[in-house]
Amino acid sequence: KPGLKVALLGCGVVGSQVVRLLREQADDLAARIGAPLELAGVAVRRPGRKRDVDLDPALITTDAEALVTRDDVDIVVEVIGGIEPARSLILAAMAKGKSVVTANKALLAEDGATIHRAARENGVDLYFEASVAGAIPLLRPLRESLAGDRIRRVLGIVNGTTNYILDKMDSTGASFTEALEEAQALGYAEADPTADVEGFDAAAKAAILAGLAFHSRVTAADVHREGITEITASDVASAKAMGYVIKLLAICAKTEDGRSIGVRVHPAMIPRSHPLAGVREAYNAVFVEAESAGRLMFYGAGAGGAPTASAVLGDIVAVARNRLAGTVGPEELTYADLKVHPMGET
Ligand code: HSE
Repeated sequence: KPGLKVALLGCGVVGSQVVRLLREQADDLAARIGAPLELAGVAVRRPGRKRDVDLDPALITTDAEALVTRDDVDIVVEVIGGIEPARSLILAAMAKGKSVVTANKALLAEDGATIHRAARENGVDLYFEASVAGAIPLLRPLRESLAGDRIRRVLGIVNGTTNYILDKMDSTGASFTEALEEAQALGYAEADPTADVEGFDAAAKAAILAGLAFHSRVTAADVHREGITEITASDVASAKAMGYVIKLLAICAKTEDGRSIGVRVHPAMIPRSHPLAGVREAYNAVFVEAESAGRLMFYGAGAGGAPTASAVLGDIVAVARNRLAGTVGPEELTYADLKVHPMGET
């Protein structure tokens, strides 16, 4: 079969790992998909920048729009993040019939409606597993495996950077700033770490999770948000002395009457015996509570280049298979139209 061509937007921490995996696993991926994947080009802002992967200069371009609309491109992978130019590029790609894989939680949480509508109208795939909880398969289980159940609550740790910071402060007594610098050096933090430490990143992920879990439209603005910048070394030490650990939690829950949902992100004191207390470094853990399934726990690497690239690659394989089969994956369903109350109260 002829190969499928992949255009990559962004070649930072995650993008460079996507390139490496596409290259190193080319034979396996071709066997799993039934056709080879070929990198058509990589759009970057600064072509001269040093990267974690060697790129053939012929593949590099600064003209992202020309790349995503090229006739021979089948799949567009967006790992640049932020609202613009990511949104325009994704829309331009979809208008040209390309399948899209994105890790962009900020965009999906702010204007997912536009992106999902464009996918539907153009009959193309939109997969975004890497947008929430890095390597952990979580969105497809919510969209597909749990499609026959009723979800009541989704709760957990969805930001690796803040978990790394809080864990370092707890285990070594490090200051907030020292711990943040380490998290940045390890490639966990967003380009602007304010998104992590002020809870914007977790709030975007909570909005995406709540939307999928409760089949409603939830945006980042609907989420009550509190970050960890006010937490001091002494708060962490006092919590520890009382047998607690401070974690930044994302909580999406249906109210008792089932008519509305509450979505919130804030630091919380967790007893040390609780499974979430044992989530160390940049790991994430999410509990999903469903009527028939009961309580499920998803745990794994929530940030970092290779783990996030693993989720991106999984999506590339899925959209490639769909494309060859002439089909598309599950559409977004927002039929429930539940009201969102940030704290879950009416
Ligand atoms: N900055 C994010 C985090 C990256 O720390 O969780 C993964 O989305």
